[in-house]
Amino acid sequence: MNQIDTYLDEHRDRFEDELCELLRIPSVSADSAHRDDVRRAAEWVADQFRGMKLATEVIETAGHPIVYAQSPAVPGAPTALVYGHYDVQPPEPLDLWTSPPFEPTRRDGNLYARGATDDKGQMLTHVKSVQAWLETEGSLPINVKFLIEGEEEVGSAHLDAFIEANREKLSCDCVVISDTCQLGPGRPAITYGLRGIAYYELRLQGPDRDLHSGSFGGAITNPANVLARMIAALLDEDGRVQVPGFYDDVVELSDEEREQFRALDFSNVEFLKKVGVSGAVGEEGYTILERRWARPTCDVNGLWSGYQGEGEKTVLPASAGAKFSFRLVPNQCPQQVSDSLDAFLQGMIPPGIEMELIRSHGAPGVVVPLDSPYMRAAAQAIEQGFGVAPVFIREGGSIPVVNTFGELLGVDTLLLGWGLDDDNTHSPNEKFHLADFHRGIKASAYLWRELSRVGTAHQRT
Ligand code: BES
Ligand code: ZN
Repeated sequence: MNQIDTYLDEHRDRFEDELCELLRIPSVSADSAHRDDVRRAAEWVADQFRGMKLATEVIETAGHPIVYAQSPAVPGAPTALVYGHYDVQPPEPLDLWTSPPFEPTRRDGNLYARGATDDKGQMLTHVKSVQAWLETEGSLPINVKFLIEGEEEVGSAHLDAFIEANREKLSCDCVVISDTCQLGPGRPAITYGLRGIAYYELRLQGPDRDLHSGSFGGAITNPANVLARMIAALLDEDGRVQVPGFYDDVVELSDEEREQFRALDFSNVEFLKKVGVSGAVGEEGYTILERRWARPTCDVNGLWSGYQGEGEKTVLPASAGAKFSFRLVPNQCPQQVSDSLDAFLQGMIPPGIEMELIRSHGAPGVVVPLDSPYMRAAAQAIEQGFGVAPVFIREGGSIPVVNTFGELLGVDTLLLGWGLDDDNTHSPNEKFHLADFHRGIKASAYLWRELSRVGTAHQRT
């Protein structure tokens, strides 16, 4: 690996510059005004693969394109499928960014830009490690396939159908994803569980126009008042979701797993300080880590109605709306949650209000087995890349396709996170610690060697 290590050292600046190029493309998948930018990002990723002479395709979907690439076949060696996403979350509110979101800027060893860690920077670590192997050794010790999509941040609506239709092409021994976090600085982690999600938009329509709240208030139902009541009804004061049947299928944490969480060096006080709050609430009987990683919950993501300009306006608004989502855990089913939610909300609609509940996207939570040779290989590689063995954690975010990989391809996913909890993902001033970018590339380069030593699933049985 000496030659590869040297190559990585010599190309640090070039790798960072290339990441900056990708970060300059505002590939916001949620915003149709950025459609062409999203495509440009796909082409940028495809050009990386073409430059490495991988068999590369840009595949059209009804949404944003999928980029697929495959390294030259190494017969008899295992196959890793690397998944990542080149799309990013909207950058708003813009005025809270210290430097503009799509002008990547280095400060204090960090690179600031939307998508720096989630997921352009993390995804690129695997591209660069493959490049290092090809340019120094001339070949990889295993087969690597890349599946890089542009719709992760909006629920991966078209990915399942692509995987279903291309099972053979995507067949592999394990999936590798870097789109998660370390436990803390210098504490690399392998994530073995993610929460699922069920996302909704709720629209309430009252009178056919805005009304004077003095002339009409008290007699005409105010949709903003009703919305507030409905949203408040979703959670009780302890943070328990109130939708009937919501907890029926929830897999409870085992005592053993709770003990493992407790053994992690995680400080509640430090965590709250980092987030800038003076205290926390949540489900009774669960620690902060348990609440974040292994308990379902509900959060309002957006809320609107009435007058929000300067001064006062006595208006009874014609409509009100909210975006909100549940985070789910194994074995909750997004479809079942949606059905109960619909009935629950319908039961709260007073006369004078029309309700529309839009089901935006959903994905179940996942837990992957820790006891596999691929997992051990990944732990080895991380130790080589970061100089310290990883801890095993769960996380509260969602990566919808992980469940699909298990169901359609029958493989487990290795979630190797190079990010940090305070990287400001989905928030202003997103960053990626550049030392972690380079450690991630190194760990990835070692991963291909470690996986080659494991062999294929077929050889092991
Ligand atoms: N990188 C995140 C997933 C993540 C976040 C993992 C935090 C671990 C910790 C991913 O890109 C993401 O944000 N996913 C969305 C998915 C959703 C829009 C379907 C999420 O979790 O909100
Ligand atoms: Zn994200």
